[in-house]
Amino acid sequence: MRTKYIVLALFFLFTVVSQAQKTPYLQKKGTATQLIVKDNPYLILGGELGNSTASSLEDMQWVCEKLQKMKLNTMLVPAYWELIESEEGKYDYTLVDGIIELARKHDLKIVFLWFGVWKNSMSCYAPMWVKENYQKYPRAVTKSGQPLEILSAFSQNNLELDKRAFKHFMNHLAEVDKTQQTVIMVQVENEIGMIEDARDYSKEANKLFTSEVPKQLVDYLVKNKQSLRPQLLDRWEKNGFKTKGTWTELFGEGLETDEIFMAWNYGLFIQEVAQSGKNAYNLPMYLNAALNSRGRKPGAYPSAGPLAHLLDIWRASAPAIDFLAPDIYDPGFTDWCKQYHVNGNPLFIPEIRLAEENAARVFYAFGEHDTMGFSPFSIESVTNPEEYPLTKSYKILRQILPLLSEKQGEGKTNGFWFDSEQKERTIERNGYTFTFKHDYTLGWNPQAKDGNKWPETGALIIELSKNEYLVAGTGVVVTFGNTKKDGTQTGIGIIDEVEFNDGKMRPLRRMNGDQDHQGRHLRIPAGEWSIQYVKLYDYK
Ligand code: DGJ
Repeated sequence: MRTKYIVLALFFLFTVVSQAQKTPYLQKKGTATQLIVKDNPYLILGGELGNSTASSLEDMQWVCEKLQKMKLNTMLVPAYWELIESEEGKYDYTLVDGIIELARKHDLKIVFLWFGVWKNSMSCYAPMWVKENYQKYPRAVTKSGQPLEILSAFSQNNLELDKRAFKHFMNHLAEVDKTQQTVIMVQVENEIGMIEDARDYSKEANKLFTSEVPKQLVDYLVKNKQSLRPQLLDRWEKNGFKTKGTWTELFGEGLETDEIFMAWNYGLFIQEVAQSGKNAYNLPMYLNAALNSRGRKPGAYPSAGPLAHLLDIWRASAPAIDFLAPDIYDPGFTDWCKQYHVNGNPLFIPEIRLAEENAARVFYAFGEHDTMGFSPFSIESVTNPEEYPLTKSYKILRQILPLLSEKQGEGKTNGFWFDSEQKERTIERNGYTFTFKHDYTLGWNPQAKDGNKWPETGALIIELSKNEYLVAGTGVVVTFGNTKKDGTQTGIGIIDEVEFNDGKMRPLRRMNGDQDHQGRHLRIPAGEWSIQYVKLYDYK
């Protein structure tokens, strides 16, 4: 009898321990990709720290306090190679461990950003002993022969350096964090890309550029011809879909071909770095991109980075990278989201310019694109943490994260984003029509007509059942109809403002009378935030 209990207890212990040790991973759910942490989907309400903030543990104390007040659940934090390995082969994790400890105290998860060989194209985070030894650790070179402060992707020495340091870092994370799993994902490097010229013109690079396109890439192109990004397909097609030849023979002359070549070679480098890190500790890994905006050409923008039009090149060369992510600093927020939520690449926004408008955008990203997370840059510089608009959005989103995770990837949600130009959008669901509009379209707010720019507003909708929905957000008004052609009308049965505690919905107040315009609409005024439950009914 006793033996039986011991066996059972051991089995139980084994099950608990083995479950606790499952590292965070990515999992497909319908059309979405979810980050799974300790067996549960995890959505990131994040913020990225300014570049130098995390180099002071003292500062990190108030930073974590502030982020907690802002309702973040995750911070994106640099891990600085120059401080970790300031002496060759000697590693110091005082800062990293201190940050992990502070995060735990403040109920925050961490995405570490490996500021290794490349940070915004440059190699400024390489330790001094690397920077100085340029004979051993060579630089990328411009077309005119100038060396850059960019470590060349074509040097085996450079590769070995980054591989070794990154692997050591990942190994350390495994040692200190495998059980608690405060660190849930890692960004490899930061905004990789060649700047000044579209590609490296070092001797080694030039040699490869005039050689044949590797078979590994050609095989990928042939196999994935139906789904290639249009820009790449177009260049390949225009040059006769060749399966043998040099880079210019396959893709033509020009900066775009330089960029394809460079992306391929960055990819090969990153593949080895990421894989060696994953071998030490298998966390999800992604790359972030400085975007190719404002009509610039490769080289004027950081060429060959993890850009949406180069998705295939990166996938073929660096399969250890789980996805590519945009850093959104330029106009066109919704377009960038669309460009990156493509061909199985999930959306994650590791950086977006810090702006009050993010309070509206975040609803669009979660509702429309199943984003894995949202993270404005330099988040700690907010001066009014409790009153900051994004805090109000995160407060709401936090409550419905379990529900969002449950519905992701199943076509049960939509996101809406409005400004002075983009004022309304109608969707259909289960035979109902939902017309979302900017709150100012009502004309009730004096600011609606005073000639000033309208504030950005946004919301998401979640389908609970055929005739029950949740709307969460700020600054929207929603009317309901149906697609039936037999004279059936759709009315508002009930609207409640609700809150969620531990995933359970609780009504706060009935939103009837003036609040729903006597049954005509659901409204969350601009400058206010709420979650509202609506039940629809039909009549004739
Ligand atoms: C994007 C980079 O990824 C960040 O590290 C930082 O340099 C910002 N740009 C600054 O705007």
